[in-house]
Parts: sequence; structure tokens; C-alpha cells
Amino acid sequence: MDNLNTYVEDNKDRFLNELIELLKIPSISADSAYKNDILKTADAVKMRLEEAGCDKVEICETPGNPIVFGEKIIDKNLPTVLVYGHYDVQPPDPINLWDSPPFEPIIKETKIHPEGAIFARGACDDKGQMYMHVKALEYMTSSGTLPCNVKFMIEGEEEVGSESLGWFIERNKEKLSNDVILISDTGMIAKDVPSITTGLRGLSYVEVEVTGPNRDLHSGLYGGAVANPINVLTKMIASLHDENNHITVPGFYDKVEEASELERAKMAEAPFSLDKYKEALDIDDVYGEKGYSTNERNSIRPTLDVNGIWGGYIGEGAKTVIASKAFAKISMRLVPDQDWKEITQLFKKHFESIAPKGVRVEVKPHHGGQAYVTPIDTIEYQAANDAYVESFGKTPIPQRSGGSIPIVALFEKELKSKTILMGFGLDSDAIHSPNEHFGIWNYLKGIKTIPLFYKHFTKLSQE
Ligand code: BES
Ligand code: MN
Ligand code: MN
Repeated sequence: MDNLNTYVEDNKDRFLNELIELLKIPSISADSAYKNDILKTADAVKMRLEEAGCDKVEICETPGNPIVFGEKIIDKNLPTVLVYGHYDVQPPDPINLWDSPPFEPIIKETKIHPEGAIFARGACDDKGQMYMHVKALEYMTSSGTLPCNVKFMIEGEEEVGSESLGWFIERNKEKLSNDVILISDTGMIAKDVPSITTGLRGLSYVEVEVTGPNRDLHSGLYGGAVANPINVLTKMIASLHDENNHITVPGFYDKVEEASELERAKMAEAPFSLDKYKEALDIDDVYGEKGYSTNERNSIRPTLDVNGIWGGYIGEGAKTVIASKAFAKISMRLVPDQDWKEITQLFKKHFESIAPKGVRVEVKPHHGGQAYVTPIDTIEYQAANDAYVESFGKTPIPQRSGGSIPIVALFEKELKSKTILMGFGLDSDAIHSPNEHFGIWNYLKGIKTIPLFYKHFTKLSQE
């Protein structure tokens, strides 16, 4: 145990520098202009897995971005841990809001991270968290303490819906066979409040298009006499929530699993300060569905949010115009047992039905995925719990997260194994936002905790 902490402390500069090298490659999956950087990142991950002691590492081609697969099988009779992560990152936009260039990583101190944090796109989501697993493997192989088999599956399309990963899993079930899936791509409550993510929300992402007249019109000559697609779209969007902030799409809540009073009471015990929450976001009040707390609203309740909206004239000055079209991108975060394909259809039907005469509405589904909740009375969870107890000296709090990793529900369905989400990020790390960062303390703590999961999981599996 002390060898582990010593090893991490002795090697921390190299661990940081290697991550910094990885963060310099702009592996943006949403923009095809970065395809070359995607391939370069996959190669870099492959090389690092080989260095860390994998016996076999391959770049697996898919219809989309390649998946890096590596493994070290020490004994077929021992359990196998499958590590999943993603090497792709979100676009850095809006780039002018970054204090330093997103692909030129720098270390800076923050209030929460007095030991320093690495600022770069992907620092926390997910290159930094994924790389903790590579370094944990390096420790275990070099010290001869790897207690079981390990496989790595690192993909390059997580931020755009993981389409090729579904394709890959379907064709490689044998290759991917495992006893537990281990992921660090979520967060923890606070540095001194360890937690294990026990749930993720599902997602349905759609784009809507409202078309009015066949061309942009003079807003004086035609204003008031034809439907203005932007006016109509905003009104339609506003009608999607009622005065209690319930979503008005018929059937939307039909399958929502209501949390029990016991579960809600347990959730309310987790340390949380509403004042600090508001202060961190610089807002004077929170907002959301009536009857639920902030922590419930962002984890066990479904949502509908506009992610982007556009149309008409947005250049400098004024242009008097009624646009022919208006657009919006809308995400719905889902909870058990909502089915994302069904919700997408319910939304489509409803949104088309509320369009007034004078416009045409089109709803285009993007991607989606099912919600995930994992029980805590399993050896998988127990092993994670024991690892945190040993590393932090505290029992971790099980917590459902509001984010989505749609592929996790598919893992359970296709590979029949449980997923353990050991996230080391903090909400303040600004993932998907300008100035994303990952605390050095969190990075090193992850590397110090992961080998303990392997140890406890192997032990509990053999009992
Ligand atoms: N790592 C995040 C998801 C996450 C972050 C879950 C923090 C829980 C806590 C992941 O990379 C992500 O951003 N997922 C997307 C969905 C995907 C289909 C684009 C999301 O949640 O918006
Ligand atoms: Mn992620
Ligand atoms: Mn992400």
C-alpha cells in the first residue's frame, strides 16, 4: 500500500508530463477537420498502454473513429477488469473565453486546487481520468502486484454519441468478455467527500426546424401578416414546461421511476450547500421542477433543455427581416425506466402537433441512450467501496449523477457485467466549458485508488 503511494509521488512529474503531451493533441470528435488528430491520439494511447505493460494493444478500425484495445491476461482463471474511457474531447468553443489556449496545457493554482490543476480541453473529460488507469496499470505491472486480468477499451466518439462503439461491442463480445467494467468519466462530491457514481441519466437529443415563408421577408411589408418562425418556435418551446416546470409532452413521465421516500431521505443526507451552489454559479436563485430539491432535479428527475437556438439576423447593427426558418437543438435527460427512443417519438409527435397553421415543423432525432442505475449490494460496488475506504480513510457516498454515458446501459445488456463509475472530477472542473481543468491532487489520488479496486475486487470474487 505504501509502495503504491510512494511510487505515485516519486513519478508524479512524469505522470503529469505524459498527460500534458496527450492533451496537446486536439482530438475533437465533433469536427471532421480533426480526424488526423483523432488518429494521432489513438496511436499515442496505444503506445502508452504498451509501455504500461499490456501484452497486446491494437488500434481497431470501425466505421467511425478507431477504438484502442489492449489487454494483459495473467491467468484465465482470475477475474478480468475491463477499463473503458474516451480519448476524444469536446470542441473548445467559445475559444475567446479561455484564459489560455485549450490545447496548450498549463498548470495553475485555484482556490479548490491549491496543489495546482492542469488547464486544457480534455484534462478531466476524459483524457486525465482515462490516463489515471494507464498509470495505475503501470504501477501494478512494474511492481508485480497486478492481481487479475485487465482489458482496456478506449474509444474516440464518446462526445458524439458512441455510435461505433455499439457496432464494435456487437462484433467483439468474446474479446471484451469481463467480470466488471471500470470507468473514470464522472465526478466526486468534493476532495474530502469521496463518492461513487451509481447512476447516469439517459438522453434524447433532437434538432427542430420551423419553416414559414419560402424566403426571408421585409419585416415591415410582411410583419404581422405571416407567421414569424422565430416567434412561433420560441412560443412552442416555452409551452414545453408548465407553471410548475413540469414537462408538458404527453406521456413523458409515464414510465419515470419515482424515487422512494427512503431513497430521497438518503439523498438529502449527502453534504450540499445551496448557498455555495448559487455562489459558484453567480445566480441569485435556483430554478426547476416544483416539489424537488436541487440534487433531485439534477439526478433523479428528467429534463428538457434548449442547447442552442438560431435563426434570422444576428450580425452587427439591425436588419429588418422575418426569417424563413428558425432552429433549435434540444436535449432531454432521462431517468429509469424511460426509453429514449420512445421519448424521442413522443416529443416528435407532440412538437409537430402544437405547430400553428402557417409554419411547417420538422423534428430530427440525433443520438440518445438509456439511463443507468447500479445496485450497491454487489461485490463490484463493495470492492469500490473498500478501495475508497483504504485510500481516503472514509466511506464513499453512493450518488446518482445527472450526466450521461449512454454506452454504459449497453455494456450491461451486451456484456452482462456491472459497471463501476469511479469518477475523480469535481463539478467546478468546468468540463465542456472554457477553462476545463483537472486537479493534480485528484489525478494522483485516482492513480492511488484504482489499484486498490483491483485488489479488493479480485479478493471478493474469490471468496
Ligand atoms: N463524462 C461525461 C459524462 C459525465 C460527466 C457524467 C460528469 C457524469 C458526470 C461524458 O463525456 C459526456 O459529456 N456525456 C454527454 C453525452 C454524450 C452522448 C455526448 C453528456 O452527458 O452530455
Ligand atoms: Mn466523458
Ligand atoms: Mn463529455
